[in-house]
Amino acid sequence: MSDFVTEGFHHLTLVAGDARRTLAFYRDVLGLPLVKRTVNFDLPDTYHLYFGLDGGEPGTIVTVFEWPEAGRGAAGVGGVHHHAFAVSDQAQQLKWKRWLQGNRVPVSGPYDRGWFTSIYFTDPDGQVLEIATVGPGFDLDEPIEALGRELIRPNPGRLVGGRDEAAIRAMNHPEPVPAIDDAMRLHGIHHVTGFTDDLVAANEFYETALGMRLVKKSVNQDDPDTLHFFWANYDGARVLPASDLTLFGWPKGAHPARDGTGQTHHIAFRARDEEQLGGWREHLLDEGIGVTDIRDRAYFKSIYFRSPDGLLHEIATDPPGFAIDEEPAHLGEELRLPPWLQADRAEIAASLRPLETAPAGRAR
Ligand SMILES: [Fe+2]
Ligand SMILES: [Fe+2]
Repeated sequence: MSDFVTEGFHHLTLVAGDARRTLAFYRDVLGLPLVKRTVNFDLPDTYHLYFGLDGGEPGTIVTVFEWPEAGRGAAGVGGVHHHAFAVSDQAQQLKWKRWLQGNRVPVSGPYDRGWFTSIYFTDPDGQVLEIATVGPGFDLDEPIEALGRELIRPNPGRLVGGRDEAAIRAMNHPEPVPAIDDAMRLHGIHHVTGFTDDLVAANEFYETALGMRLVKKSVNQDDPDTLHFFWANYDGARVLPASDLTLFGWPKGAHPARDGTGQTHHIAFRARDEEQLGGWREHLLDEGIGVTDIRDRAYFKSIYFRSPDGLLHEIATDPPGFAIDEEPAHLGEELRLPPWLQADRAEIAASLRPLETAPAGRAR
């Protein structure tokens, strides 16, 4: 086993067409505070917004590029199908269903996936999102010390065609939910699910590059002819939260993803500090994986590389974090630029549309 085992997700980065709409959704509807309003350092006339819990703790962060000219992207091989956020239990999940519906967000589920229960919806650009319960966990149908060894065929009552869709649609919290309360609060990233057309190559990549291990081999419960594999930081005794990447296995040569709004630009994993990031970079090079130099992203340092399917991956340091250029109590309130863009501040600020809008989150 590799000495290099990822400690899980740092952040997810999505592409959106309208930063104001994005702010209204992620901050006010999903309850993820804005922790940084800045620009894409490579395209400084476009917003880069960071949302996250507890001041932007790694593993809870969603970032969004505003690229109105990008056009609508499309899901496919090398792309992400959905991102799941964790919620404590099914009672809180049903409150999310009612809250989202009250904010005019259509919701499907809750679906019993066995290892967790899931509801689904989309963000305003069409990115599929999920809220999944923390448990029961992957040891539901295999011993914890032997996850991911056998192909698990879910109970037919969990599969499309075998489940009671009307009963699932009818399940809901009994009363309107006026606000996101503390018990509902999301716990960060539960898992990320993408598409591959080569599960063997993907397995080799995630084991070799990131030190992940298979924790479940199963089928897509909404499309049972398609395999669905799950990897994570797994040591034979526990699966680390916020480290689970899953892929649907499509036929070889299936259509690729197309970048654009409503799609995921990249997914980032954690490094403890810049020294460890340098170690990750050497490790990837030793494994023959092309990787960029270390880039300064102001709030972290980063390297970038691609999976065999073409999905862009990043490893980003935990430090210095978002309090480096504003007070922790006032994160995200004003436009922040890194030192090397300060000279152009007036021009950059003038090129951006104002972001503030009336909060969209309200109960119905
Ligand atoms: Fe999922
Ligand atoms: Fe990133």
